[in-house]
Amino acid sequence: MHQSNNDAWTGRAGFILAAIGSAIGLGNIWRFSYVAGENGGAAFLLVYGLCVLLIGLPVLLCEFLLGSRARGDVLTAFSHPQAPRLWRGAGVLAALVAFLILSYYSVIAGWACRYFIAYLDGTLPALPRAAIPQAFSDFIAHPWQSLLWHTLFMILTAVVVAAGIERGIERMSRLLMPVLAVMVILLAGYALSLPGASRGLAFLFTPDWSALASPGLYLAALGQAFFSLGVAMGVMITYAGYIRSRERLASSAVAVAFGDTLFAVVAGMAIFPIVFAFGMDPAYGPALAFVTLPQVFAIMPGGMWIGIAFFFLLSAAALTSAVSLLEVPVAVATRLGLPRRFAAVAIASCALLAGVPSALGSGIWREVGIAGRGILEAVDFLAADLLLPLVGIAVVVFVGWVLPRTETLPHSGLAPFLARTWLAVVRYLAPVAMLVFLFTLVFG
Ligand code: PHE
Repeated sequence: MHQSNNDAWTGRAGFILAAIGSAIGLGNIWRFSYVAGENGGAAFLLVYGLCVLLIGLPVLLCEFLLGSRARGDVLTAFSHPQAPRLWRGAGVLAALVAFLILSYYSVIAGWACRYFIAYLDGTLPALPRAAIPQAFSDFIAHPWQSLLWHTLFMILTAVVVAAGIERGIERMSRLLMPVLAVMVILLAGYALSLPGASRGLAFLFTPDWSALASPGLYLAALGQAFFSLGVAMGVMITYAGYIRSRERLASSAVAVAFGDTLFAVVAGMAIFPIVFAFGMDPAYGPALAFVTLPQVFAIMPGGMWIGIAFFFLLSAAALTSAVSLLEVPVAVATRLGLPRRFAAVAIASCALLAGVPSALGSGIWREVGIAGRGILEAVDFLAADLLLPLVGIAVVVFVGWVLPRTETLPHSGLAPFLARTWLAVVRYLAPVAMLVFLFTLVFG
């Protein structure tokens, strides 16, 4: 059997917490806020919610089912007596996507850690507001600063994964997730008490219907739903491989999807009121969290503390996600017989190296472009936009069409009617939506 060291979650709560920890990450705070900001706020939120409910959640349940059925890694998850061996290629692809995403995710997470420390030691709070955009450009352009923080973050990730499922990942999630929940609520409470906060709320909750006319919004919403839930990268398959009992998969999936979405909304309720209260532009793009917010922290009362809290939140949320990305290839390696510690260190080192071009891409390799994008953006596009839907399609086709119904319906944890509806979504709606997504991206 796999689970060479018999490692597993202590129970359902441990599994759900770890899965929520994986889902909640840079995607909920950094990515969600700028994508929502660029796509008109409330209208985006509405479409995003629908994407989570209609496509993300059913796919998440597929992954829980696949993982818990195989009790193994992503490669075993795609094997079945009736499936050609070629299917394992889908598992290989999933592990590759997780690895690639980890390589640059750690770079951005490194920036967040750097900012956290810079708020703690007072260097950032000491800067005047006008100097902040330049400070960010200087930092990411610095020849080795970005690399240094990328390395430190990757080491932290490897340490947690090396410690194992129960003693590493579950323990960290039990510790961090409640702290993150309390912090994001406190931040939102504070942001809402600012004069002018209501404009931020209106941006997030009062739709401007005309935004729905832009096709880009739908692409952005589906992409964000997949990225934020953490589906189609093998992570949820791998995590579900460590559950001891296959009960109530559907309610676990609902808990994870709901927790993840709620967190993004509350984070939005913290970020947009702050942005609007101080007259900043919500459509600032990826630098929203690293430039716009610090500019506001520089002038708002108690800004230093808010900065410390915000960047701790961002760094810790990124850690629980990065760990899950690393666990995907590590699980494959341990099943192939490598000791966990060795696998964690070796694969993290490779991801560290693979991330070097992304880390240098905003600095000394700034001139290097791949298909008109910077290096980090190009890797992100390849992994999170192109390969990710491919893995997603493999997941739903495998569960919907390859596995016999007798192995899916009864284990879904759904009442018969709901189970049939779910299967119909998995067979038709989800693959079509992902195909359209891919097609529009490539040819649109
Ligand atoms: N879902 C995480 C986030 O929102 C990112 C992630 C993607 C984590 C894939 C694991 C797997 O930031």
